[in-house]
Amino acid sequence: PDKMDSSSRGKLFDFHGVPMSHYFTDNWENVQNFQARPDDILIATYPKAGTTWVSNILDLLYFGQTSPERQTAIPIYARVPFLEIIVPSLDSGTDMANNLPTSPRLIKTHFPVQFVPKSFWEQNCRMVYVARNAKDNMVSYFHFDRMNMIQPEPGDWSSYFHRFMEGKMVFGSWYDHVNGWWKKKQTYSKLHYMFYEDLIEDTGREIDKLCSFLGLSCSVEEKERIRSGVQFDNMKKDSMANYSTLSVMDFKISPFMRKGKVGDWKNHFTVAQSEQFDEDYKEKMKDSHTSVPHRN
Ligand code: A3P
Repeated sequence: PDKMDSSSRGKLFDFHGVPMSHYFTDNWENVQNFQARPDDILIATYPKAGTTWVSNILDLLYFGQTSPERQTAIPIYARVPFLEIIVPSLDSGTDMANNLPTSPRLIKTHFPVQFVPKSFWEQNCRMVYVARNAKDNMVSYFHFDRMNMIQPEPGDWSSYFHRFMEGKMVFGSWYDHVNGWWKKKQTYSKLHYMFYEDLIEDTGREIDKLCSFLGLSCSVEEKERIRSGVQFDNMKKDSMANYSTLSVMDFKISPFMRKGKVGDWKNHFTVAQSEQFDEDYKEKMKDSHTSVPHRN
């Protein structure tokens, strides 16, 4: 069925130790057997950490000058396929990735690190991981689950708050996700680990870091064009970047480009919730060898 409504919402179940919904596991065989190419670039994130923003930056870095029509004609989810997704009315992520005409291929995943298909490691692919402050990430995920008809019902804020801390979310625990990828970075040199908050603070600086990681040279003018092009207000009105062409999302409930701010958690957490969260966070993130730097 093309029409998605509340009956299409996925349900959480345990999948190899990680809460998942069937929209991201039904294509498991094809995903695990996916043949990566050495120049593929994997963009990995916990949901709502800034995936679309970084995807758009990379797309512009690689193709902004050679094929500018991409950005005006092809939605971001087709330019940068979501590897593990399989939903009615859209090609599977693996089909979309296999049909990409360009090289390099930019591919998005929300998998925890242990689910990444082995050929990405065998091919020594570059990977860009984006992490976001946990509280803002939770708030963003809450609003996303309200409006996205393939996501489980979020319930009320207070129950969501507890479930997030328990890791009962699609793609599992935020803590395990950021820690798992951070740990991988210690041994896998082709992983660039970046933060949403740093992108907000200085987008140009983060583009420079991406360029040096990717081995790209980018002129001052080009960098400036990208930096301004990917500002929140510009992406929000860009129908090829803002997901408005996808039917599973109900923007009347909440738009995909919602706020794009650091610190929106303060409008959602009570003082008591914030204290409870911080205490639990310290406990979950205390292993100093694997803990990621904290961003506020
Ligand atoms: P909010 O819900 O806090 O507004 P993802 O792409 O991983 O799904 O992440 C979506 C989050 O990134 C949303 O956060 C969205 O508004 C924000 N975002 C997307 N593009 C952005 C941009 N250009 N600048 C700042 N934030 C952006």
